[in-house]
Amino acid sequence: MSEKIIYLDNAATSFPKPPCVYERMEKFLREESANPGRSGHRMSVEAEASVERSRSLLAKFFGVKNSSRIAFTLNCTDALNMAIKGVVHEGDHVISSVMEHNSVLRPLHALEEDKMITLTKVKPDSECFLNPADIKKTIQPKTRLVVLTHAPNVTGAIQPIREIGKIVREAGALFLVDAAQTVGAVPIDVDKDFVDLLAFPGHKSLLGPTGTGGLFVGERVEKITPWREGGTGMGSESPTHPEEFPYVLEGGTPNTVGIVGLAEGLKFVAEKGIEAIRAHELKLMSALRAGLAPLKKVKMFGPKSAENHGRAFHFNRRA
Ligand SMILES: Cc1ncc(COP(=O)(O)O)c(C=O)c1O
Repeated sequence: MSEKIIYLDNAATSFPKPPCVYERMEKFLREESANPGRSGHRMSVEAEASVERSRSLLAKFFGVKNSSRIAFTLNCTDALNMAIKGVVHEGDHVISSVMEHNSVLRPLHALEEDKMITLTKVKPDSECFLNPADIKKTIQPKTRLVVLTHAPNVTGAIQPIREIGKIVREAGALFLVDAAQTVGAVPIDVDKDFVDLLAFPGHKSLLGPTGTGGLFVGERVEKITPWREGGTGMGSESPTHPEEFPYVLEGGTPNTVGIVGLAEGLKFVAEKGIEAIRAHELKLMSALRAGLAPLKKVKMFGPKSAENHGRAFHFNRRA
């Protein structure tokens, strides 16, 4: 492509990807792309090893001890649906916020409409931050799940997930974090942040291709009901879907070429260092805010300082 592009839509999906992502995916497709876990021939075994290497890299990245608790998904929406529909039961109470992406709000709304759950949506303050005390106040004996974004795609306000996670853990509920706008750009440690379920895309700040994402399911989640069954290479004689992780959530042939591309994106991010990436983004965010501040016709939304700002930034022309 000879035309120079200024691409400002990284919150939707990142572009361009690092060259190593394109190179690895092409090599994999041309030379290695057999079906993992389905056969005993060399290419199938190697494809499976590549998928497992990607899984281990992700586990290291999030501080997950048992990599099999990470399932590959199609995107973050897929992971969020799997988590929400997989852990709630009839009669449960769920807490979320009014700032969530429709990939959270729609499945929750559908469950509420079906009278499966009751739902409380917490409101943020004027800078779009949630107050952990507000979450605490809404917890009920029937609260099974708290599902919140780490940073919304509209305002980018980074939420105090560690403080909220601690409250949710003490209450005995499960904490699902939507890391679509922070993974690869803001550090996340599932243990330190008290996260039971982490939904993330591979195609945004982890710099992998579209069609990739994942769901971490912590040990406090004893059972997760899959909504896609069959299509695994193991135990073909059994009429029931396996309950072991990650296979319980990985029915069907995986997006192997995407998963190996994601591993390269992840390695690139890890080599640059998440702190260095964050510092660079903060510098850009501060420069943008300083440039826009004197413009009387521009209104900026969300956090007032760059510090708690994720990657998304919302500004508009004043009416
Ligand atoms: C906060 C948030 N959650 C979830 C999603 C859904 O991610 P995906 O496009 O990977 O399904 C997005 C997408 O932009 C998002 O911004």
